[in-house]
Amino acid sequence: MPGKHILLIVGGGIAAYKACDLIRTLRRAGATVTCVLTDGGARFVTAMTLAALSERPVHTSLWDLDEAEMGHIQLSRQADLVVVVPATADLLARMAAGIADDLATTLLLATDKPVLVAPAMNVRMWLHPATQRNVATLRADGITVVPPDEGAMACGEYGPGRLPAIDALSDVILARFAAPAPRPGLLAGRHMLVTAGPTHEPIDPVRYIANRSSGKQGFAIAAALAARGARVTLVAGPVALPTPPGVDRVDVETARDMAVAVDAALPADAAILVAAVADWHVAPSPQKIKKTRDGTPALVLRENPDILATLAAHPRRPALLVGFAAETEDVVAHATAKRLRKAVDWIVANDVSGDVMGGDENSVHLITAAGVESWATASKTLVAERLADRITDQFS
Ligand code: CTP
Repeated sequence: MPGKHILLIVGGGIAAYKACDLIRTLRRAGATVTCVLTDGGARFVTAMTLAALSERPVHTSLWDLDEAEMGHIQLSRQADLVVVVPATADLLARMAAGIADDLATTLLLATDKPVLVAPAMNVRMWLHPATQRNVATLRADGITVVPPDEGAMACGEYGPGRLPAIDALSDVILARFAAPAPRPGLLAGRHMLVTAGPTHEPIDPVRYIANRSSGKQGFAIAAALAARGARVTLVAGPVALPTPPGVDRVDVETARDMAVAVDAALPADAAILVAAVADWHVAPSPQKIKKTRDGTPALVLRENPDILATLAAHPRRPALLVGFAAETEDVVAHATAKRLRKAVDWIVANDVSGDVMGGDENSVHLITAAGVESWATASKTLVAERLADRITDQFS
């Protein structure tokens, strides 16, 4: 991090005040931070505050950059990373449309550096199809979108839309610099989509249906693909694992959230669906189910979307579609049938009757059109490396 230069664009939302903390955290890690303040941002924090915290001039207008100072092209390119905090719905929309009508959007259009945005807004604005469409466009353009947290909002509503905690946000930013510098790796220019972890299906506000998946195998695969130069989107169910360096992570809770996030991440050259997706959900009770009032509740299970089968039939089906098959009996026979039934290219099958789920080792069979390969038991990291090598061969 020392020696790195971050151009921080502060947008017009209440979370702008948190950008002040971010400046301090990034500077403490050794970065130089130059701030750009939008007109909206200036309604929430002052240029003086940002200048004092960054100890650098703050840029506010397209027209205040005179010859003696520097042009906006130079300002956008002297940074190692451009970060937008908070990214409002309006700013995301203008970015997605390629509009350059103020200093911030002009810099974002002119930059040749990686861009990371942290949206924060009212929950309805975040969930609106227009915003989700814009986020999908920005992701497809190669911009890293750090999803907002869920919680109580300044406007009094509850849901996704809050800026993530500054420590979490600065970890994501610092991880960018910990990642190996973009190099012409064998998977450079390829987009790999990975799902990992379990899904949680709520029963009421405090209970959910889950499974034993730890996410370790999927996270290891995402890391191995990123290390080979791919752009990796990792759609993760609820797990306690750090994001591998260089990986764009989208956190989800339910199978239906996962289906939406996978669709939003398309197009991809390959999709490797490692997640242990719940097959069913229930219509959750809005209130905690009470023993006394509700007796023994009957859970009515409804089928979840099959993400793998949906991708297999999708107009933008990834060229290589890899599914996992967790089986407890007749592993190869069930997995071979699953490959044909779900119309996927490869199935990685494993026997989960032991302690594979949550453990560090895996013993898998790779099932392709050419037949079955049984790999020796190995660490999940090594299994991920082998699979990433096979995927790399496929694209070479
Ligand atoms: N999968 C998925 N969406 C689902 C269920 C499963 O994308 N709703 C994916 C998993 O990520 C995995 C593959 O499908 O890559 C196989 O998962 P598995 O649970 O073994 O298959 P099922 O279709 O649920 O079959 P089974 O009847 O064995 O449970």
